[in-house]
Amino acid sequence: MIPLSMFGRAGLVAIGALAFLVLGQTSATRAQGNLTLYCAVQEEWCRAMVNAFERKTNIKVAMTRKSSGEFYAQLKAESSNPRGDVWWGGTGDPHLQAAEEGLTLEYKTPMLPQLQDWAVRQAEQSKYRTVGIYAGALGFGYNTEILKRKNLPEPKCWADLLASGLRDEVQVADPNSSGTSYTMLATVVQLMGEDKGFEYLKQLHRNINQYTKSGAAPAKATSLGETLVGITFMHDMVTMAVQGGPVKVVAPCEGTGYEIGSMSIIKGARNLDSAKAWYDWALSPEAQALGAEAKSFQVPSNKGSPVPPQAPRLADVKLINYDFAKYGSSAERSRLLSKWDREVKTLPK
Ligand code: G6P
Repeated sequence: MIPLSMFGRAGLVAIGALAFLVLGQTSATRAQGNLTLYCAVQEEWCRAMVNAFERKTNIKVAMTRKSSGEFYAQLKAESSNPRGDVWWGGTGDPHLQAAEEGLTLEYKTPMLPQLQDWAVRQAEQSKYRTVGIYAGALGFGYNTEILKRKNLPEPKCWADLLASGLRDEVQVADPNSSGTSYTMLATVVQLMGEDKGFEYLKQLHRNINQYTKSGAAPAKATSLGETLVGITFMHDMVTMAVQGGPVKVVAPCEGTGYEIGSMSIIKGARNLDSAKAWYDWALSPEAQALGAEAKSFQVPSNKGSPVPPQAPRLADVKLINYDFAKYGSSAERSRLLSKWDREVKTLPK
């Protein structure tokens, strides 16, 4: 063995540089491309998807996790210099709005024939600028221990959330940032009519302890006992119950809205081939199985993907006929959000 000291200081630096070069080159030749992913589901699921895709394709993924409304705003802000390739997940409405505004790219994936009707309808409605990847119903959950301690009746309906006993005990996200909360706003308006719906939201405001940024945050807060009630997608509450939280999941008695979680390729994507590879793969049963593994219990969009047994059965939930064309339009989004900002969020409590 040659003693390293033989090379002297400069020699060592040179060997180091050489090793760096060789290693650097190997990994550069091994990576089959790059992908910048905007991920709007739960962090655990985002990470599981990224790892599996990188392993399968050797494409290197740079992932950011944000809420649906935040990515929609980011796409608009970056439209003259797009930075992302694929926006995967989050509620379908903002994906439809982005499609309408030409922020996302038309792509007819060969996977379409494998998808549920509701997922294909989402693609058709957007002229193939987005596609459905999962579905889930809106609802709420409550902390069974606090309810018992406070000796309050079990809330079963949207109307029950207005009870005076729930003052400062209800949490929901802000519909500007969160797709979940925008779904709630659109649901209440469709279920009750616009005037009564806004009246409901104003009364509910008295019971709200916090409008969070992310849609699923109130599920965690409910499980931790930081709030008695959290309004979220039902599957986000199921995640908490499955992890052993004292949480009961409720499908509101009057009926409720739902999401078609979606995926879009960003217009101007710098890594278009990688984006298409992700898009097709994310619609396969193999990729869709990762949701349940990461404890996300939506209904997957590929007909061949098994529905996780923990997923709330949509057939048992009284679903409204959610008007995705109307509430997925940009004009309706800005109108409803500014009205909510003006008439609800700023109301004194
Ligand atoms: C959670 C849910 C998803 C939903 C998403 C929307 O991750 O599990 O089904 O699409 O929230 O997030 P946001 O923060 O925009 O409400």
